[in-house]
Amino acid sequence: MKPGEMGDDLPPEMEVATAAARAAGEVLGRFFGTDYTVRTKESYNLVSDADVQAERAIVEVIRRTYPDHAILGEEEQKDDAGAEHLWIIDPLDGTNNFVHAIPHFAVSIAYYHQGVSQCGVVFNPIRNDWYTAVRGQGSWVNGQQAHVATADKLTEVLVGLGFYYDRGAMMEATLCAMRELFQAHVHGIRRMGTASLDLCQVGCGMYGAFFEYELAPWDFAAGLLFVEEAGGRVTDCTGGDLPIERTSLLASNSKLHDAVLEIVSRHFR
Ligand code: IPD
Ligand code: CA
Ligand code: CA
Repeated sequence: MKPGEMGDDLPPEMEVATAAARAAGEVLGRFFGTDYTVRTKESYNLVSDADVQAERAIVEVIRRTYPDHAILGEEEQKDDAGAEHLWIIDPLDGTNNFVHAIPHFAVSIAYYHQGVSQCGVVFNPIRNDWYTAVRGQGSWVNGQQAHVATADKLTEVLVGLGFYYDRGAMMEATLCAMRELFQAHVHGIRRMGTASLDLCQVGCGMYGAFFEYELAPWDFAAGLLFVEEAGGRVTDCTGGDLPIERTSLLASNSKLHDAVLEIVSRHFR
């Protein structure tokens, strides 16, 4: 990535976010494909030493520059989500892919000021893909400006989705919405297993839309800004604003938002 290509006036937090993502990526690269211990946090939700050590690497980099900032991480770091300066981090998004040696996972880091995201980085260390976004300046993939798809019909796009870690009502609702999307003749449905990258794929125009009925803030904090700065729209699955807490999520290229919302909201419970 060439940060100079991302804009003239980058916030200083962007440099720290990039350094932290790089540090976590090095940790993940060391573990990927090796023999490490995997534990189950709750049904189907896995965690490994790679997740924990990558989170520690991120925290160390952020703390070096901003010792007083709050950090909300998935694994260990649980500071106040209402803090004035807040970092929301997922050290390894796509743990299930990682554990099964699928090279589609990412480090996700977002910086919020007074409850509003200012910049975000999503980094796939295997492909060396950098997705970056700065509020008011835009989104970039590997230094190139990113834009959502221009399609205005469901029949012209792929739609991404996720299932969270549920095999009950939420899974059934997701399957029902997926069936309706197929019946609306979308080009196809994708379930890639890394929500942060799914959001970036909306921002890059690969998907017309992406939804999941439950996500945590660390799954979407950076990707949400990436989509919005690329010209897209993000709401919850009832059309409301996203809180900085567990929520449903629908991201789209804007033009398709209402059409997908009509389907996903009907099945959401
Ligand atoms: C998960 C991934 C997955 C999504 C799950 C998330 P994790 O994050 O983003 O795509 O479907 O809801 O929890 O557990 O791999 O960090
Ligand atoms: Ca995650
Ligand atoms: Ca994670």
